[in-house]
Amino acid sequence: MTILIATNNPAKAREIAAVLSANDAAGESVTWKSLSDLGEAIPEPVEDRDSFLENATLKATYYSKATGLWALADDSGLEVDALGGEPGVHSAYFDRNSAHLPRAQRDGANNAKLAAMLLGRETRSARYRCVLVLAAGDCVLAMSEGIFEGVIVDEPRGRGGFGYDPYFLVPALGKTVAELSPEEKNRISHRGKALAALREQLRTLSPRA
Ligand code: IMP
Repeated sequence: MTILIATNNPAKAREIAAVLSANDAAGESVTWKSLSDLGEAIPEPVEDRDSFLENATLKATYYSKATGLWALADDSGLEVDALGGEPGVHSAYFDRNSAHLPRAQRDGANNAKLAAMLLGRETRSARYRCVLVLAAGDCVLAMSEGIFEGVIVDEPRGRGGFGYDPYFLVPALGKTVAELSPEEKNRISHRGKALAALREQLRTLSPRA
């Protein structure tokens, strides 16, 4: 069985592949492919839905239909309580002025905007949320969700991870996610938890591809 990991975010693709390849997800051999393993580039769909579930479903069904493979898509983001749950589904493009910039610069601008908006605020609680959808064509085979609680700090710390990780502190560890090793992050992260839940569901699906 071949399953496509349908994300254009290389950091996410690495995290997903690391967790999935460490386990034999379906109880038999699954070949995990990334979009970069495909011969030709597939244009990205527009993620314009109002929820993580809708965006993940949109991506999984789109890439499955485009390739004929089962496709696993993730939609994820940061929900900050003091901002009423924002940036949420807008996490990747929180700073609209930097929407045209490469991912790393966009992440920097998003973080600067987040830090500025929270300056002087007492409520710092936030969570990462990840929704995964596995689709075969238009059919959704499995879905799962993972949540990762933390607090937003004023100054960035650490060089690992991506996106908001340098500002996302895990209180129990006294470290930001950017200070964790990839293995530590995958063990406790929203994506790691959603992948663990999806793996359980995969075991019950019989391979058809
Ligand atoms: P997507 O790639 O369109 O799903 O956008 C998700 C966005 O949410 C990313 O670009 C990041 O800004 C943020 N995000 C999601 N997961 C993480 C994570 O594990 N660490 C840091 N930021 C994340």
